[in-house]
Amino acid sequence: MQGDLERVLFDEPTIFRRLDEIAAEISVDYRNRELTVIAVLNGSLMFMADLLRRIPLPLKLDCLSVASYHGKAQTSGEVNFNQVVAPDVKDRHVLILDDILDSGHTLAAIREKLETAQPRSIRVCVLLSKRKRRAREVNADYLGFEIEDEFVVGYGLDYHERYRNLPCIGVLRKELINVNEVNPHGLRG
Ligand code: IMP
Ligand code: MG
Repeated sequence: MQGDLERVLFDEPTIFRRLDEIAAEISVDYRNRELTVIAVLNGSLMFMADLLRRIPLPLKLDCLSVASYHGKAQTSGEVNFNQVVAPDVKDRHVLILDDILDSGHTLAAIREKLETAQPRSIRVCVLLSKRKRRAREVNADYLGFEIEDEFVVGYGLDYHERYRNLPCIGVLRKELINVNEVNPHGLRG
């Protein structure tokens, strides 16, 4: 799998050092508040597991998954929730965790959906953010790394569901990306 990478951006020790820093920040910010973490499946799985074990606070964990079709046949930025019932976050301090901020459609839609349930606060934490103009502006309150606008895989991130189990994050070799795709995202986050 690692041979499919054009180059490695972040190896495991680098990711873990950054997680130590973000976890410390979150632990200070939420020390007197009970946190509800909402992780976006599947991309944030590794990030969630490694980050939350570094946060020594009482917290609740819920997951949600979405199917986003933007960049595929439709260009509307439509985001469909796979759960019928949204997590109950009324009066809670919510922290949304996702793998990567790209166009912004996914996180903007998730944030809007959760806001309708009247949480006490909402913040967003992403491992990666692409440096680009977004279709929808989303502010990441906690960010692991900023990257250029390139397609990356590993550490939870996939290309057609592959590479999620790579321990590092790297740029996928261009010749492995189907040129007929407008945007090489799988249907599931
Ligand atoms: P957005 O809605 O365009 O911000 O994209 C969010 C989702 O698209 C992420 O949660 C990922 O699942 C996927 N995605 C965006 N960029 C990449 C990438 O470079 N590699 C793998 N998945 C990506
Ligand atoms: Mg994906």
